[in-house]
Amino acid sequence: MPEFLQVAITASVARVTLNRPDLHNAFNEVLIAEITQAFEELGRRDEARVIVLSGEGKSFCAGADVHWMKKMVGYSLEENIADAQSLARMLRTIHDCPKPVIANVHGAALGGGTGVVAACDMAVALESAIFGFTEARLGIIPAVISPYALHKIGATHARRYFLTAERFGAADACRIGLVSHVAPDRAAADAWLEQIIKEVKSNGPQAVTAAKGLIDDVLASTWPNVAGLTAKRIAERRVSDEGQEGLKSFLEKRKPKWTES
Ligand code: COA
Repeated sequence: MPEFLQVAITASVARVTLNRPDLHNAFNEVLIAEITQAFEELGRRDEARVIVLSGEGKSFCAGADVHWMKKMVGYSLEENIADAQSLARMLRTIHDCPKPVIANVHGAALGGGTGVVAACDMAVALESAIFGFTEARLGIIPAVISPYALHKIGATHARRYFLTAERFGAADACRIGLVSHVAPDRAAADAWLEQIIKEVKSNGPQAVTAAKGLIDDVLASTWPNVAGLTAKRIAERRVSDEGQEGLKSFLEKRKPKWTES
């Protein structure tokens, strides 16, 4: 039973909730291990087709637990690296999860909390949510989260927000590509989430996973290899059971089998 995390699956949607509200869901080694394990497991479970990540209490996530980080002054460089690697593994597990992951952000999403949002596929944020790559204010840097942040916001915005460590609102988070949608209140955020979940559940589950995998693989490929890779991927999907079912159901004017779950 996780100490700081809640996981529930209903109607093919896994709802993962950070549950350390007294500390604004700041993560320590326990929460990091619990998030990693939960996303590894949900990635393997067919009954979860979409994952929504939220925070309990006033905030989504206030980043790394500063008490935990302070304690690391007594750790050796090797111990510090091992610790940072567990955070890196957590972010990578979220990012690489074969299911679509949607962050549902309210309150503060700061430092590693902003990094977690960047590692998700999409995010909805309340208008009142606050973001920031605040690490430099604490004399540290947004190192482990940087690959995910750069993926989403690009170097231009990273040059501003990493260096100023300023806090910014949901509208700016949306403008720079960190967030997909800004909602005025909880009901509007829930309505947007429902719509996105409905859209995803209309698609072939394996096609969604393959489409997600395609993004990183294409970005990591170089010309002319990329043309071979993309041709192979579409060929694999066309001849797959799911691809055949999708094409057949369209031609037969019926719903594909996967819409039943
Ligand atoms: N790590 C550990 N504890 C944290 C924390 C963090 N990242 N963020 C907040 N807390 C703790 C506070 O120390 C406080 O503990 P206390 O009640 O024992 O004093 C408690 O959470 C409530 O925080 P408080 O600042 O009083 O609440 P608030 O509503 O005024 O502000 C935040 C909430 C999240 C905006 C504010 O606490 C904050 O800016 N935190 C730092 C976030 C940050 O820079 N994270 C990056 C770390 S790399």
